[in-house]
Amino acid sequence: MTAQQTQLQLQYLPPDLKPELLPQHVAVIMDGNGRWAKRQGMPRIMGHKRGVDALKDLLRCCRDWGIQALTAYAFSTENWGRPQEEVDFLMTLFQRVLRQELREMVKENVQIRFVGNLNALPSTLQTEISRSVAQTENNRGIRFTVATNYGGRQEIIQACRAIATKVEQGLLQADEIDEAIFEKHLYTAGTCDPDLLIRTSGEMRLSNFLLWQMAYSEIYITDTLWPDFDRSQFHSALRVYQQRERRFGKV
Ligand code: FPP
Repeated sequence: MTAQQTQLQLQYLPPDLKPELLPQHVAVIMDGNGRWAKRQGMPRIMGHKRGVDALKDLLRCCRDWGIQALTAYAFSTENWGRPQEEVDFLMTLFQRVLRQELREMVKENVQIRFVGNLNALPSTLQTEISRSVAQTENNRGIRFTVATNYGGRQEIIQACRAIATKVEQGLLQADEIDEAIFEKHLYTAGTCDPDLLIRTSGEMRLSNFLLWQMAYSEIYITDTLWPDFDRSQFHSALRVYQQRERRFGKV
């Protein structure tokens, strides 16, 4: 098979995957960029640069294969503790990628959203975020959510505060609070919960990612480092996912 034929084949859902059993929403923890760079004898930041390429490819792959939503953990509330120059590099990288990719996202019908405490991000990045969200909000293709300065506990606390304020104001009774009301106060309101979480580089943790939303997500962990996570790796993850029996606590 020529490289072109392989490429063409990978654009379509591989025949061993069942369209009716695809996850609607995939979440990814893109771990291992630093280790990837170190193995190549490069500075850590090069791993993040290659990580962006892997993410772009995964987004296209999800779209090609009919997956409706992808959420990527780009920067956690804990990541501020990294060396200042790496944090600065990441902020500049996010900004540059958003600026460079916006036209493509508009053309490819991607709806981009951000979750996290965005007010604490550099103002130039906030501007780029607002622009990309506004210009893609009417797109009805794949929904791409980027978790930036995101922490699951912090998200739950901000939801509690918003609900408590409504109770204080008499807009809501305490005994009216249920899962549906709580969900409406999360950053992810209106998006279905992830069916599948993929974490690369062999770490077996949730790392404060979508704690509420992933109560029943299937978890797939691979030793592959994020920059090496390609379509064939994603194919393997989906194959494993399709073999899982999802019971949601029932028998
Ligand atoms: C974890 O690898 C990776 C990150 C904290 C950054 C991920 C960000 C990107 C791939 C860029 C995404 C860009 C946009 C615009 C959404 P690590 O540094 O923890 O690697 P290590 O565990 O090997 O040290």
